[in-house]
Parts: sequence; C-alpha cells; structure tokens
Amino acid sequence: MKFDSRSVRISPTATIGHNVRIGDNTVIGDGVHIGDNTVIANDCWIGEPLSDYYFFEKNYQNPPTHIGANCLVRSHAIVYAGTHMGDHTSTGHRVTIREYTRIGAHCRIGTNCDLQGHLDIGDYCWLHSEVFVAQGTRLGHFVLIYPKVMFANDKMPPSNETTGAVVADFGQVAACSVVMPGIRIGQHALVGSSSVVTRDVPDYAVAVGNPARLTRDVRDLLDPDTQMPLYPWPMRFSRGMPWAEVGFEAWQKARTH
Ligand SMILES: CC(C)(COP(=O)(O)OP(=O)(O)OC[C@H]1O[C@@H](n2cnc3c(N)ncnc32)[C@H](O)[C@@H]1OP(=O)(O)O)[C@@H](O)C(=O)NCCC(=O)NCCS
Repeated sequence: MKFDSRSVRISPTATIGHNVRIGDNTVIGDGVHIGDNTVIANDCWIGEPLSDYYFFEKNYQNPPTHIGANCLVRSHAIVYAGTHMGDHTSTGHRVTIREYTRIGAHCRIGTNCDLQGHLDIGDYCWLHSEVFVAQGTRLGHFVLIYPKVMFANDKMPPSNETTGAVVADFGQVAACSVVMPGIRIGQHALVGSSSVVTRDVPDYAVAVGNPARLTRDVRDLLDPDTQMPLYPWPMRFSRGMPWAEVGFEAWQKARTH
C-alpha cells in the first residue's frame, strides 16, 4: 500500500543500508546515509537542500545527512541535510527537522514537531506532538517534552542575538509551556503545564505558572492514593528505557561505576 515503489527517487550519492524500506513518493537527497532496517514512509524528503540550493549557488553541495539503523520516519516528514539521527529513533507524521540537528538514539519525535535546526538532542528524548524547538536549544538525555511546548531563542525579537534554552537529563516540560531563551531547566526538574519559564529551574525543582514560580521539590509530589513518591519519574516508568529490565537504581549504579 505505502511501499509500491511508486515515484521513489534516490540520489546516486545516497547510501542505503540493508533491509531499508522506502515509501511511495519519497525522495532521498544527495549525501544521505540510511542505516540498516530503517523505514522511511511515504511522501518524505530526506536530505532536503539548504536555502543556498534554491538560490542556485553554483558550488552548492548538500551537507551529509545520517539516519541511523532501525529508525522509523513516518509519512510527510522533511529532514534537512546536515541532520544526524541516531539508531532506533522514530518520528511521527509531518515532522520538520531542519539542518544541523543532532538527535541521539532511541528518541521519539511526535507528529507535527518543528525542530528549527542547530540543535543538540541526547538519547531517549521523547517530544510529544507539535513541539516547537528554536535554533540552539539543547536537550540532555531522557528529556520528556509534552505536547505544544515551545522553546524560544530570541528574547527581544527581532534580533541577531539568539540563545537556546537547555533542559538537563531527565528534565520534563509539561504541555503548552513556553521556555524563554537561554533558560536552564535542571536535572529531574518538572515544569507544569501552561507555564512560562522566565528563570532557571534548579535540579529536582517543580516550577508552575506564568511566570513560572518554584513550588516545591519534585520528590515531594506524592501519589494521592498511595502517598508514594511519584518522582524522579524513572523510578516508576521504564517503558522503552534502558533500565526496563533491572530498574532505575540498579541501572544508574552500574552506569556510574
Ligand atoms: C506540575 C504538576 C504535576 C503539579 O501538580 P499539582 O499536584 O497540582 O502540584 P502542587 O500540589 O504542587 O500545586 C501547588 C499549587 O500550584 C498550582 N499549580 C499546579 N500546577 C499548576 C500549573 N501547571 N499552572 C498553574 N498553577 C499550577 C496548584 O493549583 C496549587 O495551587 P494552590 O496552592 O493555590 O492550590 C501539574 O500541574 C502538571 O503540569 N502536570 C503535567 C500535565 C501534562 O502536561 N501532562 C502531559 C501531557 S498529557
């Protein structure tokens, strides 16, 4: 249905691994590498040229693009040249990933996400649907970003001074929040939904509201029924995470020794 080899175009300078499936109407551009067992669904553009190409720069050369092994790129995604996507990473539909975005392994980039380029995203990051990530934003490992979050990078627009925000390992930003330029959200910190984050959020802090205020330590948030601690979240959530078999504490211990 989606893999009938209709109108698939692959540049002669692309390298395609073993057992790769490419959907109908998809284009694989110049200098793209696709790792083994990866699926690129229908109507995608991988290795979309940068703007110089459209201005007919004579010596334009697409920067290399790397899509790892065992990835799934769903239909209508546009991945610009210069992107690096680690193994086992997947995207939803209609995702835009602009140039020089580095995404680690085992990440999930939700439907309609708009990644504006020049980004550094670690391993095991989950971005839910419709997240906007401005240039220069950096996400550590195991960062969870919920729907419609917006990372800004220009405090006084329009300007030439842009600074991306940072979310440290295990940090979370809940739905519909805005993170202002240059803000650091600490390890295991939690930003509540619809917050506007104008100041740094320390490790393990909960910040909520507009402007976001620190309300408590994330470890003090208890399940109302059991009165058990809910955070740090890896203690009670492991689906798709590397500690799924052994538990977070044992995994972390092994990692730090
Ligand atoms: C951060 C969060 C877990 C806090 O939950 P909580 O149990 O209400 O937290 P607290 O008990 O510490 O709340 C302290 C105060 O801050 C207020 N508050 C909590 N979250 C708030 C938010 N996002 N915005 C504004 N105020 C908030 C509470 O109403 C309470 O006010 P009060 O003292 O006047 O009653 C929750 O707000 C949240 O954002 N959850 C994530 C939702 C989400 O986006 N899920 C993922 C996508 S589906």
